[in-house]
Amino acid sequence: MQPPSDDGEDLGVGLKPGDPHYRAYVGPPEDYDLIAAMTFNLLTTLGLRQHHSLLDVGCGSLRIGRLLIPYLNQGKYFGVEPNEWLVEEGIKRELGEALVQIKRPTFFFSDSPEVVVQAKVSFDFALAQSIFSHCGLDLIGGWLSAVSRSLESWIGNTRARRGRFLLRQNSTRRGSKTNLLAGMHGWKKLSEKRQDEMSLLSRAGIERWKL
Ligand SMILES: C[S@@+](CC[C@H](N)C(=O)[O-])C[C@H]1O[C@@H](n2cnc3c(N)ncnc32)[C@H](O)[C@@H]1O
Repeated sequence: MQPPSDDGEDLGVGLKPGDPHYRAYVGPPEDYDLIAAMTFNLLTTLGLRQHHSLLDVGCGSLRIGRLLIPYLNQGKYFGVEPNEWLVEEGIKRELGEALVQIKRPTFFFSDSPEVVVQAKVSFDFALAQSIFSHCGLDLIGGWLSAVSRSLESWIGNTRARRGRFLLRQNSTRRGSKTNLLAGMHGWKKLSEKRQDEMSLLSRAGIERWKL
């Protein structure tokens, strides 16, 4: 198989993660398609359907949003992102303004979990892909608690948590199949790495399941 190349488009191939290019900023540009495909497949395997609402925490340049926005019904995709330029580039270079007009995603340009609390929207699914490895525990706690509350809704007179939260981290090591599996096993990897995060999860009332 051919190694990834730019194929005449400026796909950032060869740049380092974090470089100021919309694809490189969020991870290795060579894996931009792969992370999107894996996450989208995982979400649909977990039951994501077109009528569900989804919160994408730290949506970046819409690496996954560019698959989710066309898939979901109008107004069902919500992205939070402090770096507005990433979303702008994602729309300009991946998604297109026409799809934004048709699907009407909502973007919150903020780094604070408070925006989700104030939006008073309840979601069926939440996604945090490659976010918490970069955050301190305070911020992780804030996000977990905000996401947890936003996955609740009223069923009759009872407030119940019914949504699903997919939290994924990817291995930065490349070149072996186990790295892909490590990505799919984000929970386990996280728990091994940072036990504190597990107690934050239970404090936020989020039940953990391994994939
Ligand atoms: C490694 S990138 C991942 C982006 C996207 N989730 C993806 O998988 O393509 C991390 C993202 O988190 C965003 N971010 C940084 N601080 C944040 C915060 N406090 N809350 C939410 N997102 C944040 C960054 O701007 C960046 O877009």
